[in-house]
Amino acid sequence: MADNKDFFTNFGFKKVPFKEKAKLVKDVFDGVATNYDIMNDAMSLGIHRLWKKEIIKMITATNTKTLLDVGGGTADISLEFIEHGGELAYVVDINDNMLQVGQDKALNRGYVSSLEFICSNAEELPFKDNSMDCYTTSFCIRNVSDIQKALNEAYRVLKPGSKFFCLEFSKVENQHIAKAYDIWSFKAIPKIGEHIAKNKDAYQYLVESIRKFPPQEEFASMIRKAGFKEVGYKNLNFGIACIHYAEKI
Ligand SMILES: C[S@@+](CC[C@H](N)C(=O)[O-])C[C@H]1O[C@@H](n2cnc3c(N)ncnc32)[C@H](O)[C@@H]1O
Repeated sequence: MADNKDFFTNFGFKKVPFKEKAKLVKDVFDGVATNYDIMNDAMSLGIHRLWKKEIIKMITATNTKTLLDVGGGTADISLEFIEHGGELAYVVDINDNMLQVGQDKALNRGYVSSLEFICSNAEELPFKDNSMDCYTTSFCIRNVSDIQKALNEAYRVLKPGSKFFCLEFSKVENQHIAKAYDIWSFKAIPKIGEHIAKNKDAYQYLVESIRKFPPQEEFASMIRKAGFKEVGYKNLNFGIACIHYAEKI
């Protein structure tokens, strides 16, 4: 989160001028877009698929037929939503290259008319107040320059009575698991990134950005601050990832 918008914010473990972060994040995902999906499988040993299935279960339980998928990237969540009976998903992302990979996947799977791809920032969504049936974001929000602003936007665009979901890396509380996870994160992931995506720096940023993201309770407070009620979360694999959920009353 920004310390002060006129000054610096976190970009992984580095401090960078607030206004430069969006461009740096865009460069990271430009650099990995074509290898993004294969890297996810390699880094998480396929576990990210189970986490995504879990959030899809929660989304479909709301019976929503339309979904706003912010930071939707290569459209994993939106495609899974459509495969589970969803009718329309808006895939919003700041990065055209990630959206292009998503668009190709939608085309290959025959779902092109069910997904709308929109290049835009989570902090300024191109939708009217109270217009969306369900908001989801996965592994995006820690990359956003002003996280509170993105949460406020989520609240603004959602219809009253609709749900917010966020899948994100989080804080592992068990010390033994945290230690093993740190070794995997800092020793293995950047090397896998170097080998597969030819981009060690992007994956070094990834593991650092996870450590800088607010832990479960702190992020839940930010969701409440945006105006949401019924705020809760579900840890996945000891808190390596976490699904936050909330409702706009
Ligand atoms: C780690 S990827 C996640 C993609 C997808 N949601 C998934 O779960 O596989 C993060 C995505 O968030 C996007 N992103 C980062 N900052 C953003 C912002 N401020 N607004 C919209 N998208 C953003 C990136 O371009 C990238 O595609």
